Amino acid sequence: MLSGKRIVVGVTGGIAAYKAVDVVSRLRKLGAEVRVIMTQSATEFVTPLTFRELSGNPVVSDMWTEPKTWNVEHIAIATWADLFLIVPATANIIGKIASGIADDMLSTTVMATKAQVLLFPAMNSNMYNNPIVTDNLAKLSALSYHILEPAAGMLACGVEGVGRLPEPEKIVAKVIDLFTASSCLTGKKIVVTAAGTREPIDPVRYIGNRSSGKMGYAIASAAAARGANVVLVSGPSGLPEPQGVCLKKVVTAEEMRQAVLAEYKDADVVIKAAAVADYRPCTVSGDKIKKTEGTLTLVLEKTVDILAELGQQKNKQILVGFAAETQDLLAYAEEKLRKKNLDMIIANDVTLPGAGFDTDTNIVRILYRDGRQEELPQMRKESLAGVLLDKIMELM
Ligand code: CTP
Repeated sequence: MLSGKRIVVGVTGGIAAYKAVDVVSRLRKLGAEVRVIMTQSATEFVTPLTFRELSGNPVVSDMWTEPKTWNVEHIAIATWADLFLIVPATANIIGKIASGIADDMLSTTVMATKAQVLLFPAMNSNMYNNPIVTDNLAKLSALSYHILEPAAGMLACGVEGVGRLPEPEKIVAKVIDLFTASSCLTGKKIVVTAAGTREPIDPVRYIGNRSSGKMGYAIASAAAARGANVVLVSGPSGLPEPQGVCLKKVVTAEEMRQAVLAEYKDADVVIKAAAVADYRPCTVSGDKIKKTEGTLTLVLEKTVDILAELGQQKNKQILVGFAAETQDLLAYAEEKLRKKNLDMIIANDVTLPGAGFDTDTNIVRILYRDGRQEELPQMRKESLAGVLLDKIMELM
């Protein structure tokens, strides 16, 4: 199944390093060519000799020792790789990659590779839930690194919680999935909208909303990783530009409308994760509005509902909408699905902890045109992006 695939396995210094031995063995049995890079700390847990025997290749753990048989400048291994795994990924390596630190063979090679990088975090649950680690993982996800969430269970430190390295068969299954998935949307054009729009009031003020763009950016990134031609139309957002995506920046609902319509005709799928303003000021003051006595009234007019317009013009496209609600979730979502002529709508109750605006996770329910409904557990937005693409591919 992995015949001819070239996989670099980076092993870092966690107790779960012993499971990486089984991962390397399984990858070889499936036909992959494997090269292993260990950090110095990893060599305290497992010997390089074990990985050398199982991978059939010399193992590097030191930048400065010349290995015996293969041509190993870090650039050579970095360009050789079709896929780069880090098993287990400690908080330390995650922090280094996220911060652009390259101070040993593994971190230097990861920085130099253009291959997809798959990280398997494994650590004590307090470390995993530390906001610094959470932020680093979110940053890496946004930069198109793949992250498999650790499993929950009894950890080596004696604590029960999240942080276990998944079993080797799961890790290998994820590798196979990634190779299969990396081409499954090839030739498809996917338009994704993200973040909130801003409607100007005067030169310094606007009407906006709390959308961060995380969900839309995660979907765009995941679709590009599957080989799709992705156009991401985004309102203002502080997120980094995802790799392999054509990013079109817009500000207002009308600019978003024009950008989406221009891409619509030959699109196969449109996913509207943006929080589009429903109203904008009727007039925009040319000068900054000055404070006066009494109240200030702004008169607003409706913007065009972009998704409803796409629904009216739809021919072959699959249309996917989002419904962020604070009450009567299903009734409102069903109504939007029907009124806007959608194939699928992702409904979430933004009042739930762990769901909604500017969070790293979401809790959603998917409603389909044929009346089916699916409830998904709380998951990171990057994982949810992959699940949503799987569902969209089923519809395709
Ligand atoms: N949407 C859109 N254009 C608008 C408003 C919304 O394309 N002017 C899209 C959103 O991107 C989302 C879906 O429609 O995919 C639902 O948006 P939402 O704001 O939840 O619903 P509305 O239809 O605006 O209704 P309401 O604000 O009354 O809930």
